[in-house]
Amino acid sequence: MSTRILGIESSCDETAAAIVVDGREILSSVVASQLDIHRKYGGVVPELASREHLRQIVPVVREALAQARLTFADIDAVGVTQGPGLVGALLVGLTYAKVLAAEIGKPLVPVNHLEGHVHAVFLEAHLAGRTPALPATCLIVSGGHTLLYHVQASGEDSGGPARAFQFRRLGGTRDDAAGEAYDKVARLLALGYPGGPVIDQLAPRADATKSSANSKDGLNFGPVKIKGNPYDFSFSGIKTAVLYYLRAHPEFNAEIEARREALQQGRRKTADLLPLCSPRTLDLISNFQSAVVNDLVTRTLAAATETGARAILVSGGVAANSELRNTFQSKSTPMGVTVFFPSRALSTDNAAMIAAAAYPHLLAGDLAKSDLNAEPNLRIEAVP
Ligand code: KG4
Ligand code: ZN
Repeated sequence: MSTRILGIESSCDETAAAIVVDGREILSSVVASQLDIHRKYGGVVPELASREHLRQIVPVVREALAQARLTFADIDAVGVTQGPGLVGALLVGLTYAKVLAAEIGKPLVPVNHLEGHVHAVFLEAHLAGRTPALPATCLIVSGGHTLLYHVQASGEDSGGPARAFQFRRLGGTRDDAAGEAYDKVARLLALGYPGGPVIDQLAPRADATKSSANSKDGLNFGPVKIKGNPYDFSFSGIKTAVLYYLRAHPEFNAEIEARREALQQGRRKTADLLPLCSPRTLDLISNFQSAVVNDLVTRTLAAATETGARAILVSGGVAANSELRNTFQSKSTPMGVTVFFPSRALSTDNAAMIAAAAYPHLLAGDLAKSDLNAEPNLRIEAVP
C-alpha cells in the first residue's frame, strides 16, 4: 500500500503544496512565489508575507490536488512546516493544515523546514536513480540560512525513502546568510531582487584576465577570516567591503542610477541590465561571487574531510548557483566524495521536500499533538 502525503509549506515567501508518494515520488508540486510583492522592498516583509499566504493557501492546495488528479479522500496524511521561519507566515500553513487534517480525519505530521531541505536532495537523487551515502556533510544555504550539518542515519538504515536522519550542527553563519549577502550586494549595485540569480548570470561575463589588476585595486574580496569554529561563516564583511569599495569609487554612481531607472521601468532581466554594467562592475560582481563561493566550498569540504563524510549535500536557494555547483564538483571529485544538489525547483522552498520529510516521521508515529504551534527558531540538531 502506498502512502500519499500532502505537504504544506509557508515558512517564508513561498506558499507551496505538493503530493508525494512514499516519500519519493512527486505527484504534484505547486509553488506560489511572492517575489513580485516583496521586490520593491528589497527583502521579505513579514506582514505582507502572512497576508499573501492567507490568500494563496487554499488555491495552492487545490491546484496540487488537481495536478495529481486526487481529492482529499485520497490523502493519507498531511505534513506541514512547523519552523523555522517567520511566525506569522508559519501560522497560516500550520493552522490550515491542522483544520484540514481534523476535517478529513487524517494524521498531521509537523516537519522541520531544514530537514525538508535535506530531503530535497534525496528526492532529486532518487529521480536520477542514485542514493547519497551516509554519513554526509550537508550545507543548507539560502536567503535565511547558511548552516553546516553532519547527517547520519537514525537507527537501522535501509537506504530507502523511509530513512530518518540524525543531525549534528557543525557550524553556521554568525551574521548574514549567503543569499542575504547576494541580495544586499544586488541592492547596492541596483541589480534587482532577488540578487542571486542575476549575479549568477552576470558574474561569468567579467574578464577573468583582469584579476591581478583587480587585487591591486582592492577589488578582491575574501578570504573570510574568522576566529574560533572553522565551520562558521560570516558574509557581512564581504558585503561591507563592497559598500566601502563603492563609496570610495563614485564613478560607479552613474551606472547604478541608470540601472535603478531600468528596474523602475520593469526592465530587470539580465539581458536588460548587462548593457548597463561596466566591465569594472562585472569584475566586482565576479569577485564578490568568487569570495562567497570559495568560502562556502572550502569550509564544507574541510568539514567533510574531518567528519569522514561519504557525500556532500547542498540545498537551499543558493544551491542553484552555477559557480557554486561547478566549484563543488571540481573540488570534491579528487577527494572521492560525491556532491549532490537538488534541481533548481527543489533547491528553493517547496512543499515536495516537506511531504518527503514527513514520511519517515509518519512511519515512526511522530504525529502532531493538539497543542502544536509554530516554532520560528526550531532546530534539527539534537540539543546536548
Ligand atoms: O531557499 P530560498 O528560496 O528561500 C529562503 O531564503 O529560504 O532562497 C532564496 C535565496 C535568495 O537570497 C536568492 O538571492 C538566493 O537564494 N538565490 C541564489 C540563486 N538563486 C537564488 N543565490 C545565488 N545564485 C543563484 N542562482
Ligand atoms: Zn528554505
